[in-house]
Order: sequence, then structure tokens, then C-alpha cells
Amino acid sequence: MNTVQVTDEVQEYLDSLLPPRDPVLARIEEEAHRENIPIIDGHEGAFLSLLVRIAGAKRVLELGTAIGYSGIWLLRATSVGTLTTFETNHERALRARANFAEAGLGEKALVLEQDAVSGLEKLNAKFDVCFIDLLNSFPSEDVTRKVFDLCMQHLDGGGLLMADNALRQGDVVKPKTQQGRNVAFYNQLVAKDVRLESVVVPIRDGVSVARVKN
Ligand SMILES: C[S@@+](CC[C@H](N)C(=O)[O-])C[C@H]1O[C@@H](n2cnc3c(N)ncnc32)[C@H](O)[C@@H]1O
Repeated sequence: MNTVQVTDEVQEYLDSLLPPRDPVLARIEEEAHRENIPIIDGHEGAFLSLLVRIAGAKRVLELGTAIGYSGIWLLRATSVGTLTTFETNHERALRARANFAEAGLGEKALVLEQDAVSGLEKLNAKFDVCFIDLLNSFPSEDVTRKVFDLCMQHLDGGGLLMADNALRQGDVVKPKTQQGRNVAFYNQLVAKDVRLESVVVPIRDGVSVARVKN
């Protein structure tokens, strides 16, 4: 096989190619690592941001805000865009709002302190991008399917459906946990859906990227 092994040395090389983060993103990264708050990294942020920019997306939906790190990457990739993002943890939602404001994006980011599944059922809006960053937290395959269906209903043709942790550190090949089975199930839903063209990219813990055909 011709696939490169991402050794520590290769990872350091990749890190050296990333542009330095501005003070807001750098601070959030540092806080998240110190407090064990699960966030994407700079490579994934740059990747998602590129996709959003290339797609010319304006209306971004995110499931799982944490303290706003990925949301800042996503929003900065849109020229006149908006972000609607769900977070159930009150303290994280507050910090996300403060971080969006500090990044100069306070007016563009709507942090909804609601369960993403029931919230999305009630949300009457369409989006150009949906980024799922709570695949790891669904209780069952049924809920995973429900979220997939809801995201599809909220995306227009040409829209992007993206999800983090699509490889779950390998626990999708022969899943040993319910979370692994959920993520493997999600990957199957995306891969088999004729309305989508898709790929899983092995950045960090795997990013699922799919585009709704026009
Ligand atoms: C992986 S973190 C999000 C990280 C963030 N996207 C980033 O990279 O900066 C997932 C977040 O989803 C929140 N969460 C978990 N289940 C949720 C649900 N059902 N609805 C809304 N938020 C949820 C958790 O509190 C957690 O902060």
C-alpha cells in the first residue's frame, strides 16, 4: 500500500506547514487542551474552512459547539455568512458566545442552548453546510439515522454534509462499542445514499465529507 504512516515526525512536518493561529484561536486551543474539552485541530479547521470557502457557502449549521473553536473556522470561511450551532452545556455555550464576540463574529453566530436532535426537528431553516461534531455522543443507530435524516432535510442541493470522528480511532472497522457502531452506521448511510457524493478523509480522527447532488 502506498499510504504514508503519519508518524510523530510526519505529524510535526504537517504542523510546520500550518499557518500560525491568531490570538483568539490560539487561546481557545490552549484552554481546550488544558481543560480536556474535545475540539477539532488546526488541520481540520483549515480543511473545513477551505471546503466552506470553495463551496461559497453562507448558511452554516453545526451540531456541537463546545467553546466555539470550529465555529470560528467555519464562519471565517464565509464572506457574509451566519452560523447556527447547538450546544447543551450551559457553561460552554456562554464561553462560545464570548469567543465568537472576541473574534468579531458575535453578530453572525447564533448559539442555541438546546439538544441538537429535538432542536433540529423544530428548526425551520435551510443551510449550505451542516457540520456534525457529536457523532460520538449518540445513544443508538436509530438516533444516528434520525440526525442524518434531519441534516439532509435542512440542506439544499449542492450543500455539504460533514462530520468529525468518522474513523473513531479505528473503532469503525470492527466496532467494539455502541459509539463505534453508530459512527460505522453513519458512514454507511452517507456512502450508500444516492443523493450524496462522499469521501472520508483521514485527517485527525477522520472527517466525513459529502455533497448533496443538485
Ligand atoms: C466534540 S464537542 C464539539 C467541538 C467543537 N465543534 C469544536 O471543534 O470546537 C461536542 C459538543 O457537543 C455537545 N453535545 C453533546 N450532545 C449534544 C446534543 N445532543 N445536543 C447539543 N450539544 C451536544 C457537548 O457538550 C460538546 O461540547
